[in-house]
Amino acid sequence: MAKVRVRYTDLFAQTIQRMREDGLLLVSLGADGKPNVMTIGWGTIGSIWARPVFIVLVRPSRHTYSRLEQIGDFTVNVPPPELAAAVSHCGTVSGRDHNKFREMRLTPIPSREVRPPVIKECVVHYECRTLHRNDLAPDALAEAVRAEFYALGDFHRVYFGEIVAAYADEDAAQRLRPRPAVQ
Ligand SMILES: Cc1cc2nc3c(=O)[nH]c(=O)nc-3n(C[C@H](O)[C@H](O)[C@H](O)COP(=O)(O)O)c2cc1C
Repeated sequence: MAKVRVRYTDLFAQTIQRMREDGLLLVSLGADGKPNVMTIGWGTIGSIWARPVFIVLVRPSRHTYSRLEQIGDFTVNVPPPELAAAVSHCGTVSGRDHNKFREMRLTPIPSREVRPPVIKECVVHYECRTLHRNDLAPDALAEAVRAEFYALGDFHRVYFGEIVAAYADEDAAQRLRPRPAVQ
């Protein structure tokens, strides 16, 4: 399937919908040259500093965090529903002791603009270059959010990645049609 360039907002609804259904796949790269993939359920796309930006939240305990601190580039890949099991696995085990690409038969292919690869089996790809990173301020969080999501600390670091390339399978909109139940 040929990958065609898209505007970064073209598949916004499908991207957010898939993030809420199964999750998206974030690929980072360590200084050792090894890519790692992890599932993300939180994030958004927007326009900041007159640039298209993908914002992701990564806890310091993740192997991905150490990769992002070494090389700020990352890619966000939108999996089709058929990859649900792989997405779940990538959100359960760590790249510290697993090669998730191999275990889930995901194929890393070179990106167009950044160093970490994209995932061939995914449908939409956003290549991102970190412009800014910032830690959540625990004291500034609503108490309800803090109690629900940060009982153990491990407050997320927020990465603002400029989307320097966005492309998708030609039939992306068709393949990512939402399941009826999730709003
Ligand atoms: C559906 C789903 C969504 C997730 N979203 C996030 C997220 O947005 N940020 C985060 O830090 N961890 C998130 N996780 C947890 C990581 O994906 C998980 O801890 C993963 O094993 C980390 O991999 P790594 O150690 O190789 O980086 C999510 C897990 C699942 C299953």
